[in-house]
Amino acid sequence: MIKQLEALSQEFIQNLEQLNDEAGILNLKSEFLGKKGKVSEILKGLKDATPEQRKEIGPKANALKEEINKLVSQKLMAIEVESVNKKLEKNKIDLSDLDLKYLKKNNHGGLHPRTIIQREIEDVFLSMGFEILDGPHIEDEFHNFEALNIPEDHPARDMQDTFWFHDPQSDVPNKKLLRTHTSTIQVRGMKERTPPFRFIAPGTVFRCERTDASHEMVFNQLEGMMVGKDISVGNLIYFMKTLLKEIFQKEVEVRLRPGFFPFVEPGFELDIQCLICKGNGCSVCKKTGWVELLPCGMVHPNVLKAGGIDPEEHNGFAFGLGLDRLVMMRYGIDDIRHLNSGDLRFNHQFKAF
Ligand code: DAH
Repeated sequence: MIKQLEALSQEFIQNLEQLNDEAGILNLKSEFLGKKGKVSEILKGLKDATPEQRKEIGPKANALKEEINKLVSQKLMAIEVESVNKKLEKNKIDLSDLDLKYLKKNNHGGLHPRTIIQREIEDVFLSMGFEILDGPHIEDEFHNFEALNIPEDHPARDMQDTFWFHDPQSDVPNKKLLRTHTSTIQVRGMKERTPPFRFIAPGTVFRCERTDASHEMVFNQLEGMMVGKDISVGNLIYFMKTLLKEIFQKEVEVRLRPGFFPFVEPGFELDIQCLICKGNGCSVCKKTGWVELLPCGMVHPNVLKAGGIDPEEHNGFAFGLGLDRLVMMRYGIDDIRHLNSGDLRFNHQFKAF
């Protein structure tokens, strides 16, 4: 019987070598180890064996069963590894071949139109010697209002419906809020530098407003400020015109009107003719043919003081570009709500890189 068991072991190994599929291997296993399998058949002879023979045969039979089980699981594992490797080979991406054409074809994302324009504006201002600053979204009353010459109970606070972190009527000192404009960065920027300086600060702002084709609760502005000696309205207009020419790559109709903002004096509204309806009137320009794009003005002496600058010595201009409106004008987008919609059908229309 021992010889028979040894012969079975050889037979099993030879048969296993021929097989390469899971079902075949499991069949072979049950041919040998199943209830009516070859090993059981041999072990039926045990009843005629002497107790000494049994002692010898029992462990051999067990060892054979163990060996068969081990060989089966090794072979199954090898087959699994081979099939995974084949799949990996088929789906392989050669990273050195990962060129822009591949990315475009496979729609692997791109830049949002706002990012495209923001980067262009940053380049224009960097080339004119401006720094680029950043500031916090969660601001305090001081930077959002007081330092900008908007004291408590000033009606201008109502112009900007604010998301407060505290009850606005409560007497918590310097209450927190979501910044309503990027002008908050003016005072932060002034405090950290000495004149002359010039910087821009792009960023997201928040207003608790009803939304429509030209209003969003979360939108983007780009603040700008230049402080030095003898800065004039002429300087302001020069920089604004240069910006618009670079962005639109053509002359656009602009008009300058007086505008009231507590942090500038005099203050202006620089409007551009609506490029969506070419001045004929549409939902974006509220049928006026003009779009408010660039409120600006000469920095109010109180604001300079809040920034630690002596208004007798220095002056400057500031502007707060409506970045999303500019994006809409440049690409002919007729509803601001598309910009934050996350709708890929919208996003895919802009150049990817
Ligand atoms: N912060 C103003 C707003 O959001 C826009 C603005 C107006 C910014 C005039 C300025 C400015 O810097 O000079 O409505």
